[in-house]
Amino acid sequence: MNNLNTWTGLINAYRDRMPIDQGEEVITLHEGNTPLVPLPYISDLVGANVYAKVEGANPTGSFKDRGMTMAVTKAKSQGKKVLICASTGNTSAALAAYATRAQIPCVVLIPKGKIALGKLAQAVMHGAHIMQINGNFDEGLRLVRELSEIDSVGIMNSINPFRVQGQKSAAFEICDALGKAPDQHFIPVGNAANIYAYWVGYQEYEQDGITSSSPKMRGVQADGSAPFVYGFPVENPETIATAIRIGAPASYEKALTARDESGGSITAQTDEKILHAYKMIASKDGVFVEPGSAASIAGLLAAHENNEIVKDSTIVCTVTGHGLKDPDTATADIQIPAAVDPSLESVMSLIDRL
Ligand code: F0G
Repeated sequence: MNNLNTWTGLINAYRDRMPIDQGEEVITLHEGNTPLVPLPYISDLVGANVYAKVEGANPTGSFKDRGMTMAVTKAKSQGKKVLICASTGNTSAALAAYATRAQIPCVVLIPKGKIALGKLAQAVMHGAHIMQINGNFDEGLRLVRELSEIDSVGIMNSINPFRVQGQKSAAFEICDALGKAPDQHFIPVGNAANIYAYWVGYQEYEQDGITSSSPKMRGVQADGSAPFVYGFPVENPETIATAIRIGAPASYEKALTARDESGGSITAQTDEKILHAYKMIASKDGVFVEPGSAASIAGLLAAHENNEIVKDSTIVCTVTGHGLKDPDTATADIQIPAAVDPSLESVMSLIDRL
């Protein structure tokens, strides 16, 4: 017998670093333990050792499961009767799944027409109560905040402090896999909790002497929704990367802490550059991520152009969600070949053209 199947989720794996009580029921789908995959093509291109932390390998296909296992575990033991979040899609998918496991009804507020199809499918299939709003994520979150006075309602956005505690586990896993902290860490930034969560995780390991350094945190936004770059909220954020279409991030100050304490940066990339990175990581390194996730790769490519990548240094890019989340963007500009007869000639003529 091997022991490949002993992973039972990140709360159990990092129990001594999580706010969990002995005997407390853990709500888990065995999230975490995602692959840290070397990217040979991109590594060659930028002259460094680049790894992708492939968060699409989580049970609902995004990093949100890390925060949700912790937040829903707590909501369950606190006896919450309804769970709610505003979402650009992934948080709603994760909440829908974990709330189902906890047997607590959930409500998800999503911006009309601006959520990728796969994410909507997940919320539907897990039985979430879906409310589409004529507004964007920021307006949804404003509404959710107004419910925080009601004790029986659990707020499951990342303003819930347990979310960050779960999400910091990704930094532990990276250090455990590399045997050290990376030199730089590129990460998409939307509502801005994840960059902070990683920083908390890296700092915890460094302070406990498990690692001897922490990486520069390099946040990346889409330039149509880049409040960190402009220094003020964006009223009508726009980007093809709908996951990070957020103009007034809830964790603004916390993300600035991560940026400044680490000596990093938060920059913005155009949709064009994000789509270029989206296609590159899929077609050259075999990792299919959603557009918002490719912001981290776009940020790395830009940093390389600016000579900000030290040769042979170790770089991690978090790719936050699976490519299948957003099939519309993936298939928007492809030509599906015309159907042919199922003959050997047809296959051979195709092979001969390769
Ligand atoms: N990447 C993906 C795929 C996301 O879904 C999100 C956020 C981010 C990056 C940004 O992370 O907000 O911690 O800075 N999605 C949220 C949602 C807002 O509702 O699913 P962040």
